[in-house]
Amino acid sequence: MRKKLFIKTWGCQMNVYDSARMADVLAPLGYDRTEDQTQADLIVLNTCHIREKASEKLFSELGRLRAVQTARAAQGVVVTMVVAGCVAQALGEEIARRAPYVGLIVGPQAYHHLPEMLTRAAQQKAGGACVLDTEFPAESKFDFLPQENGNQKGISAFLAVQEGCDRFCSYCVVPYTRGLEYSRPWAALVDEARVLVEGGAKEITLLGQNVNAYHDEASGKRLADVIEKLAAIDGLLRIRYTTSHPLDMNDALIAAHRDVPKLMPFLHLPVQSGSDKILVAMNRKHKADDYRRVVEKLKTAQPKLALSSDFIVGFPAETEEDFEATMQIVRDVTYAQAFSFKYSRRAGTPAAVMPAQVPEEVKEERLARLQALLRQQQTDFNKACVGQKMSVLVENPSRHEGFMFGRSAYMQAVRLKGDSAMEGTEQLVLITRGDPNSLTSEA
Ligand code: 5AD
Ligand code: SF4
Repeated sequence: MRKKLFIKTWGCQMNVYDSARMADVLAPLGYDRTEDQTQADLIVLNTCHIREKASEKLFSELGRLRAVQTARAAQGVVVTMVVAGCVAQALGEEIARRAPYVGLIVGPQAYHHLPEMLTRAAQQKAGGACVLDTEFPAESKFDFLPQENGNQKGISAFLAVQEGCDRFCSYCVVPYTRGLEYSRPWAALVDEARVLVEGGAKEITLLGQNVNAYHDEASGKRLADVIEKLAAIDGLLRIRYTTSHPLDMNDALIAAHRDVPKLMPFLHLPVQSGSDKILVAMNRKHKADDYRRVVEKLKTAQPKLALSSDFIVGFPAETEEDFEATMQIVRDVTYAQAFSFKYSRRAGTPAAVMPAQVPEEVKEERLARLQALLRQQQTDFNKACVGQKMSVLVENPSRHEGFMFGRSAYMQAVRLKGDSAMEGTEQLVLITRGDPNSLTSEA
């Protein structure tokens, strides 16, 4: 009999991808995904450790799911609970101690071990001990995962091309939770892309914690080569990639923005801060002007390019003047969209023990000012789309009768007139309305 698998995912797109791949690993064991946790036989919580709230959310969610597990036990069903992802990697022992009803704890590099871990958990069920695997195995999980087998449904799919990071920005847990940079072999990526397109994907977003550092040791291929190769796949309409480090933005990749029409003119290029002093302390290894120059080159290659970014406010020793430099780079570059965060101390990272930590109220006040500016830029960008014809990739019916939902080249949510026959097609539509978070075409 088939069993039900419930997966809850927090954090980045890489985690969304990992959840689909975990479902691929578990499918041969008889598990199909369900959205209904009360019917689950196996529950996986795929966690994020990048900022503090995520791990707090894990513990409160575990408490709630404990009740589901107890209710299912009363029906005679043993529900196994799995904690996966970056909190599992960083706090595995603590989770086992605080939530003894968790059966399995698995780090991001070990989820190909899930079937074998489940067997072990079943064997030692009576003892109740948790099975934990947070090793960084010598082998790559990608060599052991089954082929992408339909757990990414839909028009827009993710494809992990590299994982981990060697850059060691001083605030960031990624090099510790995901491990050092690893690029997947080029041929495997192209195969996986073909499978995704055959399964109905029209858009592929290439993923990596530092995606533009992609380099295949054996063939010497870089990210621009992957993009070019994917662009030749019939039926694939759009290509994106995220997240990039400014210093890994090489000339071939910049040229791809000029030469490959399927590569969308929208780029997530985090700068984090506009202050050179803070950028040094962050170990970003570039100055604010280096970033401005990269943006200029990109815009020369692709004049239609729009940008998105990540910002951290209240990094240790950030003064009002440093923060003003961040506001200035936002004014200079202008963003279509952006994410901004208060600096969060992550145990084990160099910045966590830096002197002059910034008080919480100061962080909050600066974040509010930055977000007001970013929101204004996003609204301006959306309003400027009114009256323009834009290409929209139609994904699914909108909640509004007679309308479909899709995305512009710039990832804006667009509501357009039409029906399900449009799903998976690109439509050129006249934008009639621009709101802070979406566009509408009533034409
Ligand atoms: N505190 C706040 N924000 C952080 N980020 C990463 N680590 C931290 C931290 N310790 C942000 C960065 C990164 C994004 C994914 O999360 O802006 O680009
Ligand atoms: Fe973290 Fe990105 Fe810096 Fe790598 S480049 S350490 S993932 S912020």
